[in-house]
Amino acid sequence: MSIPRTPTALLLICLLSACGGGGGSDTAGTGSRTGTTAAPSPAPAPAPAPAPAPAPTPTLAQVGDRLFDETTLSASGKLACASCHVETRGHADAQGSFLPLGGADGSRQGLRSSPSTRYLDQAGAFGFDAQGRPHGGLFWDGRANNRTEQARGPLFNPDEMANTDTAALAARLRALPYAADLRAAAGLQAAATDAQLVDAAISALVRYQTDDSKFHPFTSKFDAVEDGRASFTAQEQRGLAAFNDPQRGNCASCHDSRPAPGLGRALFTNFSYHALGVPRNTSQATANPAFFDLGLCGPQRSDLAGRSDLCGLFRTPSLRNVALTAPYFHNASFATLEDVVSFYATRDTNPARWYPTVNGQVQLYNDLPAAYRGNLQRGAPFVRAGQAPQLSPQDVADIVAFLKTLTDGFGTTQPAR
Ligand code: HEC
Ligand code: HEC
Repeated sequence: MSIPRTPTALLLICLLSACGGGGGSDTAGTGSRTGTTAAPSPAPAPAPAPAPAPAPTPTLAQVGDRLFDETTLSASGKLACASCHVETRGHADAQGSFLPLGGADGSRQGLRSSPSTRYLDQAGAFGFDAQGRPHGGLFWDGRANNRTEQARGPLFNPDEMANTDTAALAARLRALPYAADLRAAAGLQAAATDAQLVDAAISALVRYQTDDSKFHPFTSKFDAVEDGRASFTAQEQRGLAAFNDPQRGNCASCHDSRPAPGLGRALFTNFSYHALGVPRNTSQATANPAFFDLGLCGPQRSDLAGRSDLCGLFRTPSLRNVALTAPYFHNASFATLEDVVSFYATRDTNPARWYPTVNGQVQLYNDLPAAYRGNLQRGAPFVRAGQAPQLSPQDVADIVAFLKTLTDGFGTTQPAR
């Protein structure tokens, strides 16, 4: 941010650059990010300085846009939401990152891969359906019911932005050059309390993620094909067929490819929970061998600790932008889509490819303690050991080609790499 953003500085920038006016306080700094289209206009005639006009109050969403990029809200001064939810990576982990680093000095390794923050509006609160199956909620284990509950997580998580308490975060908010904008957008007085300021910042972050179309653009090739504006290649078409086929990929049974009710667009998740038995992430150098992330039954969430039938289950993520969001799975154990789809095809037919062999024994499902292996997902695309995989290598390649059609920005500016 090289451009100062105080109202005075902005007024000056507007005078110098003849910006269109009415663009809100973010116009100068982020241009297209706020959707402002400044009409081309002739060079400004030297005008007399206008009477000091009241600066337009930015919306909460506009303040949220700035807060999302704000590193000074973290204890290390280095981490923003945008550090782990990178816009050019579908708002998921930065390219090349493994498990995210955070904490007071930026050296603590998190437990889980940063998911995309797009396409979450339909997740709904966490709950159980009539058959007792869990669904919905935010985070890999659904422990936040909505974005407001969610945003408190990273701001105060000792592995992430590591604020020790409300007072610590409020002090960081008061020190922002645009603290007055935050108060004005939230309708707060200068004397606002710590708790009011923190709540205002969280509402701003939530409004930004819900109001700004970049979190739900629906601009992939898949959408263009749905709208009749493009067509799949033969390979993409075969991939979609295998993805949907209940006898082969059966992917759509969880990553739903039909338009969601009331939305008219597919989300590629039904927000259901499953135990896939993904291999342990061995690159966690400091990982404690006795520790297991069991998803719904804990230890990150504690309310379902007694439900051993839910151990090892994680929420089905959307596959939109999945070509951009490596590493994959809750524990970031896979680096490529080819490997993810091959894992589905051969988890039980060629387990030695996925799990380590110790003393001649393949350590099957080694990130899920034996007591919970009854919870493992069976059925297509998984097959019983000894049977042929339902997905051939060609099917795997076709499905990967199809998954690449789910990247936003098709036919417009290609997403920056
Ligand atoms: C150090 C990296 C890091 C930072 C910084 C960070 N996040 Fe996250 N984010 C994650 C991880 C990891 C998860 C998954 C955590 C889990 O499932 O327990 C996550 C999950 C989320 C989710 C839920 C996604 C889903 O699929 O349910 C949202 C929304 C989100 N973060 C928004 C934010 C916001 C807003 C901020 C800034 C206030 C932020 N994140 C800061 C790493 C980070
Ligand atoms: C029974 C439900 C189910 C089926 C069937 C299924 N998935 Fe998944 N998928 C999940 C769940 C749950 C996860 C997250 C698991 C975890 O992290 O432990 C996941 C994760 C993924 C991921 C990683 C996404 C990310 O952001 O990390 C990809 C890619 C994926 N699935 C593709 C597929 C494809 C392709 C198929 C078909 C061959 C398929 N899935 C079939 C439930 C399912």
